[in-house]
Amino acid sequence: MKKNILWLLMTACSFAQAQNPVKNIGNITSADISDQTVNITTDNSFASIIVYSPDIIRVRIDKQKLKADFSYAVISQPLKTTVNISQNDSAIIITTDSLKATIAKSPFAITFYNNAGEIISQDEKGFSTSWVNESVTAYKKMQDGERFIGLGEKTGDLDRKGSGYTNWNSDVFGYSVGQDPLYSTIPFYIGIHHDMNYGIFLDNTYQSDFNFGASNNRFSSFGARGGELNYYFIYHTHLADIITSYTSLTGRMKLPPMWSLGYQQCRYSYYPDTEVLRIAQTLREKKIPADGITLDIHYMDQYQLFTWNKERFPDPVSMTNKLKQMGFKTTVIVDPGIKVNPDAAAYKLGAKDSVFLKYPDNTFYTGAVWPGWCNFTDFTSEKGRAFWRGQVKFFANNGVSGIWNDMNEIATWGNKTPDNIIYDYDGRKASNLEGHNVYALEMARSSYEGAKAAMNNERPFVLTRSGYAGLQRYAAIWTGDNRTEDNHMIAGVRIISSMGLSGVPFTGMDIGGFIGAPTSIGLYTRWIQLGAFLPYFRNHTVANSKSSEPWTYGEECTDISRNYINLRYKLMPYLYATFYEATQDGLPVVRSLAIDNAFDPKIYEQAFQNEFCLGKNLLIVPVESNKDFTKVYLPKGTWYDLYADSVEQGGKETIIELSTAKLPVYVKESSITPMQSLVQSTSIAPTDTLYLHIYKGNISNTFVYYEDDGKSYDYEKGSFYKRNISFDPQQKTIVLDKVEGQLVSKFKTILLVLHGFDSNDKLTINNASLSTKNTTISFLSPITSFSADGLIKPVDSCKVITAAIKNDNGKITIGF
Ligand code: GLC
Repeated sequence: MKKNILWLLMTACSFAQAQNPVKNIGNITSADISDQTVNITTDNSFASIIVYSPDIIRVRIDKQKLKADFSYAVISQPLKTTVNISQNDSAIIITTDSLKATIAKSPFAITFYNNAGEIISQDEKGFSTSWVNESVTAYKKMQDGERFIGLGEKTGDLDRKGSGYTNWNSDVFGYSVGQDPLYSTIPFYIGIHHDMNYGIFLDNTYQSDFNFGASNNRFSSFGARGGELNYYFIYHTHLADIITSYTSLTGRMKLPPMWSLGYQQCRYSYYPDTEVLRIAQTLREKKIPADGITLDIHYMDQYQLFTWNKERFPDPVSMTNKLKQMGFKTTVIVDPGIKVNPDAAAYKLGAKDSVFLKYPDNTFYTGAVWPGWCNFTDFTSEKGRAFWRGQVKFFANNGVSGIWNDMNEIATWGNKTPDNIIYDYDGRKASNLEGHNVYALEMARSSYEGAKAAMNNERPFVLTRSGYAGLQRYAAIWTGDNRTEDNHMIAGVRIISSMGLSGVPFTGMDIGGFIGAPTSIGLYTRWIQLGAFLPYFRNHTVANSKSSEPWTYGEECTDISRNYINLRYKLMPYLYATFYEATQDGLPVVRSLAIDNAFDPKIYEQAFQNEFCLGKNLLIVPVESNKDFTKVYLPKGTWYDLYADSVEQGGKETIIELSTAKLPVYVKESSITPMQSLVQSTSIAPTDTLYLHIYKGNISNTFVYYEDDGKSYDYEKGSFYKRNISFDPQQKTIVLDKVEGQLVSKFKTILLVLHGFDSNDKLTINNASLSTKNTTISFLSPITSFSADGLIKPVDSCKVITAAIKNDNGKITIGF
């Protein structure tokens, strides 16, 4: 009898277990408040809620006692903050100057409120946080009208509502425009509803999954296949400040060398050295400005790292020197896989020091990639990073200025990194499940640190294909192996915008498309035009494909391409100041319209979601090559057509006629855009006049002008020239504040180029009258080549007023 009861009980128990594979966090059983932290025990977990700043609250939850804190992404500590934490029978309440979090006790559930008591985000009742085996997920109630943007390198719409995503760094040659996951992982998104916005950063390197209401109408969720639920909740009234807070956690880009903002020419692959020099020479002869030549895998001896193919490149130092004399810097590709070759110096050293990823039996993990069977440096160990830092000196010694980190997902033939690879994880040891997504970040870090150490106060340029949150600290990133198709060009813009929302400002895509050749010159020219407004501007194409240099598609196409590359070089002072801004507040160079117009539903519409701003001032409308007309939406305010200065009122959509020679660009009212004379390379000094384009408007505005030598770290010691320039329509002034920094500007004269002003605007400088000139300017040159229809294409022009002033360091007040 007893036996029977026992058996019944056991069966009932296992039945109950079998019925409930989802383990919920349960009720809070104890809570310990100390300073800015609450440590909590629940029926099934341990949690810690930490106030990082008035705007950031971190949540850590695990089934086991929380491990010592460790992150590859987060580099900051909690700020000392005024915070009030109390508890009663039903909840714990945390109040900071800008937000309130309540943690209900039975069951555990978090709700975040703003100061006005409105709910910003709340755990979905009944779900909260739960586990299925080792997978942990946080479920948040789907708010009415909630939108989701960001999440790094993701395809799809600007508003991700209704979609789900996975983060698992993958090599996706020729991916489709809806494919997921791609190469890198940035588990940070911004939610928007009821005129509020918040950010959530899930710092967990396991495969993570985000569901923004895909196949359900109840919740949004995020979680990972292992490890802690470890997320940062960020709240600000302005969306831009959320990006600033997120990058206060994960770090910001360092100032890149100015040459990396110039045009870069690449293909898979240019060789031998004479071909490389021919390409450089042709760019100069055809007066197409450029700063970089990039060498793909064929420069190596049988794809072996840290070697040159001696037949193709017998004297690399002399080649890189020749290129330097012509105003070009050389970037070379590196892959993480180092050929198993006991005769090769680098491999021998790596094997001796045992720096490679290992299997549990302590043998090296071996995978096949370009050179054949390879071992892979374990960048998650200090020993591995030190090895790599030592090896990359090879590039600096050969006159190379840029390192392009490719295939670092890790990509191998077969693309399946075994689960049982062991990563050192800085002494913590992690399996592939935890280490995979962070590998590329640490490779980029090692390349950056090694190149920096070897380059003698020169700033290196590092490009990466894969990465994790925080990659902006070390590298620029491009969108990998896209296809030469209109929809890829447009999807690329959205991926770049999304990365900008996710803290990565230095981004690009293969201009002209990697796989395939344009079927019309229209697609090529549209892509070059667009590329001129993207942070990293590199033309690249796959092996054995048609050439993709700007002279490939006939003279008209060359003229149009040259026009836009010229425009980029003239915009260099503006671009550089925008990059500087990104180093200060984390705001991207390519700005989704959501950054300034988060609550404007129009910007999320399919027709308008691809528009973006380059920095604060220029709104770019990407267009497909087959369109004769396009719809444009300009956000509220007044805008100027860049080319003709015609004024458009925002807040409405219009249909405009397109011309192949022009990509639609609009300039924001009251904006201040510094430009320079045309140069063929950033290594050549422009004339000593800075052109300060000011567009009359009804709003106050400030622009931070920033200049330094563009190549060294001397700016860290005060060698820069920086000044705030503001436009005030009420006071009717343009004020150039006193200069900060010790650098003498390369511009002796500032030419004010005033758009939208007229002869009634009597100009003064520090109260004395200022003489002006009425003149006409054009941002593009006429198409003089014998074009398809045999006509010389005229260009639009702008009627402006100019006034030259001396670039004095003191405060300068211009009245109008
Ligand atoms: C990868 C890269 C591509 C490169 C090729 C050869 O596919 O994404 O840009 O050209 O490898 O190295």
